[in-house]
Amino acid sequence: MKLAKSFLTILFATMLVVVSMLTVLTPSYAQSNDNGAPVEGAVPGNTTSGSSSDAELWRQIRKGGQGTVAGQNAGSGLMIQSQGEEWRQMRNGPLPRYSAWAILGILLLLSVFFALRGRMKISKGASGRTITRFTLLERGSHWLLASSFIVLALSGLNLIFGKTVLLPVIGASAFSTITIFGKFVHNYVGFAFMVALVLVAVLWIVHNIPNRHDLVWILKGGGMIGKGHPPAKKFNAGQKIIFWIVILCGVSISMSGWALLNPFTTTMMADTAAISNSIFGTEFATNIGAIQEQQLQATWHTIMAVFMIVVIIAHIYIGSVGMEGALDAMTSGEVDENWAMEHHSLWVEEMDEENRLASKPHPAE
Ligand code: HEM
Repeated sequence: MKLAKSFLTILFATMLVVVSMLTVLTPSYAQSNDNGAPVEGAVPGNTTSGSSSDAELWRQIRKGGQGTVAGQNAGSGLMIQSQGEEWRQMRNGPLPRYSAWAILGILLLLSVFFALRGRMKISKGASGRTITRFTLLERGSHWLLASSFIVLALSGLNLIFGKTVLLPVIGASAFSTITIFGKFVHNYVGFAFMVALVLVAVLWIVHNIPNRHDLVWILKGGGMIGKGHPPAKKFNAGQKIIFWIVILCGVSISMSGWALLNPFTTTMMADTAAISNSIFGTEFATNIGAIQEQQLQATWHTIMAVFMIVVIIAHIYIGSVGMEGALDAMTSGEVDENWAMEHHSLWVEEMDEENRLASKPHPAE
């Protein structure tokens, strides 16, 4: 009994010594100086006294800027970027979901429209005589814009939906090859798109300035409400809307694409927020970090691109199966006189006044 008592006393004393030694030897991670300011290089929070310090620790980790990794930029001090998780959830959730609905929605809408209305015919039938509508330069620029956009759209859509739609069908190896190739193509074809965008803008901007006839055209639903086609110059109000969407979205997609190609070199999102705050009184955050800037650029790039894809699907429909005689304008450049009179009567009059209405027999005759 005496022996047991002495044993317990020795054990207790030893434990006391070990604990006190550990306390003395454990370095004190001083977090702050006397004023409470963080000390350079120190681990934040009172980590030695348990979980009560966790909030401060994580706050500092998320805030970053406690130091930099040698040779890296200032953002490298950021160990966890909370907005990254929000971005990831958005990128894998609402973004692809709403994009899919928008694209499937427009396809469904056009199919229903086509089933109900069928192809819009030239009401007087083809005259057999044609007028030159677009020059070779105009058609070349259009097709450069169209082909580059289609390649960008397909390779871009693969980045949003490929993993869900393509991967299970073609397998990992083929999907990997396609996606890597598609990514390079996407990066380079972007420049062809930008060149074509400038060409199309320069060639057609004068014909796309709104005028009083556009209002009548819109009120008559482009000829669907009431009788007869509303008059229009070279481009009607519907086409002008397409033109401006293409130009404005095209510029926006190009700028955000540039930011994605050259990470951490632009501050367009932060600048836009600041401009919006000062002009419209919005309260967008302007202290956007370099990483969040990239995330916002990626999201914006996708939203703009999907919107443009939806609009262009409708455009392709009208320019091909939807309307008799329209496609000729962009293939041979020659349109039937009756088609031109029906859809662009004021343009035909203008051409007539300028003596540029040299009608030719239809190429097919
Ligand atoms: C296979 C795809 C396409 C076809 C069949 C097509 C067809 C056409 C046709 C026939 C016109 C002339 C309409 C007229 O004579 O008034 C036109 C004009 C135009 N196209 Fe396309 N196009 C296609 C793709 C694209 C793409 C991808 C873009 C842009 C990214 C685009 C942008 C434009 C613009 C801005 C105009 C002038 C405004 C308008 O007519 O709406 N096109 N297209």
